[in-house]
Amino acid sequence: MAAGDDAGLGDNFRMARADSDGGDGVHLGRPDRGLSPSGGAHTWAGQARYCRMFSDLPSLVVDIEALEAAGDTGGLIDAARVWTGTGDDGEGAAGWPLFGQLIGHDITADRSPIGPHADVGALRNARSPELNLEMVYGDGPIGAPYLYDLRDPAKLLTGADGLDLPRNSQGIALIGDPRNDAHIFAAHLHLMLLHAHNGFVDRLRADGKAEGTLFDAARRTLTRHYQWIVVHDFLPRLVGSELVNDVMRRGGQFFSPAPGEACLPLEFADAAYRYGHSQIRNTYQLKPGGPVIPLFPALVGFGPIKPEHRVDLGQLFDLPGHTPAQRAKRIDGKLPASLIRLPQQITGDVEVDAYHSLAVRDLLRGTATNLPSGESVADAMGITPLTADQVGPGWAAGTPLWFYVLKEAQVFGHGDHLGPVGGRIVTEVLLGLLRADPDSYLSADPQWTPALPSREATSFELADLLIFAANQPAAR
Ligand code: HEM
Repeated sequence: MAAGDDAGLGDNFRMARADSDGGDGVHLGRPDRGLSPSGGAHTWAGQARYCRMFSDLPSLVVDIEALEAAGDTGGLIDAARVWTGTGDDGEGAAGWPLFGQLIGHDITADRSPIGPHADVGALRNARSPELNLEMVYGDGPIGAPYLYDLRDPAKLLTGADGLDLPRNSQGIALIGDPRNDAHIFAAHLHLMLLHAHNGFVDRLRADGKAEGTLFDAARRTLTRHYQWIVVHDFLPRLVGSELVNDVMRRGGQFFSPAPGEACLPLEFADAAYRYGHSQIRNTYQLKPGGPVIPLFPALVGFGPIKPEHRVDLGQLFDLPGHTPAQRAKRIDGKLPASLIRLPQQITGDVEVDAYHSLAVRDLLRGTATNLPSGESVADAMGITPLTADQVGPGWAAGTPLWFYVLKEAQVFGHGDHLGPVGGRIVTEVLLGLLRADPDSYLSADPQWTPALPSREATSFELADLLIFAANQPAAR
């Protein structure tokens, strides 16, 4: 495809932006650039906070016991209640929600305990609201040296054989966000990002880039490829190109933070972006012809990846030379058994048994943060809400926003795409964060295009980045 100014990843790689305060004197919440030259990984200096897109709407008041009943084993949202073993395959490849999960981990981490009564004002986001691969780079080589390779400091550390994440002597992954080791698929995708960064270091070095600027240039290159994929590949598949183009053209109607002043909306973190929980399959095949394995407990992470659990990426994404990947589950208002009974390694010890259910947790988070109903958000957007028949029984007072987004995807998107409410929240937030980040390619260099080759002449896709990563000598 057409290449941007970093086409050869040579010396003409343009710096992201001019000065540190953008000329407006605003420093609050801006990245700390004090770690240069080799420590230039993005650090959010301000306190990342959550905010709201629809602060004027009344909270949905729901009975907590009813939520727990709907989300727990045997409840309305438990796919196992009706699952016959087939028939819930969607259109998209199984890897898309897994990549989507990593995007989520890049921008939101609410570490408050689960329960119906959160102190909403006290919630803090442990991630910066920027698509900056903080989950990969952490605090950079100076703030988080254990993420980097001492023998070649521009590179990220990988596991000894290049086939696993780097781990400490107790098997805990040395990565920027521990959630990326929660299951083997997240761990594999994270590993691909490490290899992609290291591959960019090699390319830049071969182009003669000065050693002192290699790390920053490789980080910026990978981050921009990732941001490009979010805009041009991930979002169009999830919500459709029309909506993406509309928000690109007109900006967000309900979320458009000023440069350097982004926050993460609770409607996104505690409802709409959790759509992906309904796209997780109950079972996965890791290799063509291999056994079909339930996600949990077998494929839980937080320890070295067993050789028999190494994933063939062609099972997750449609890649050239591979048979088509297995598909993501349809979004249908139901979660697979593995997520209705999350393993203890993921939930920790819980005081209420129902907190093992991710559906219960999704519903409780939404009510604890006083989210409005899906119907009232639809009204506020000028969209005709789903009817009671379309939403299904059980939500007389209004439908929790998260569940509404799932049902909307089922009704309007055949379970493959988000509907108008969920789609708009997700699109406006992801594009809004990119626009508010002065370092993103959309803000700093909108004409930028990926430097890596692509399979299709006109588009660069996630598959192209994965192929690049998987072909690095250290990855094989
Ligand atoms: C195997 C797959 C997955 C597992 C085991 C998983 C597990 C979890 C858990 C345990 C939480 C915390 C629940 C809570 O206490 O609030 C969570 C939160 C969340 N998940 Fe997932 N998830 C998975 C996939 C996904 C996918 C595919 C997406 C989206 C595409 C997603 C988006 C989110 C978001 C946005 C949050 C809120 C994060 C925060 O603000 O801290 N997850 N997930």
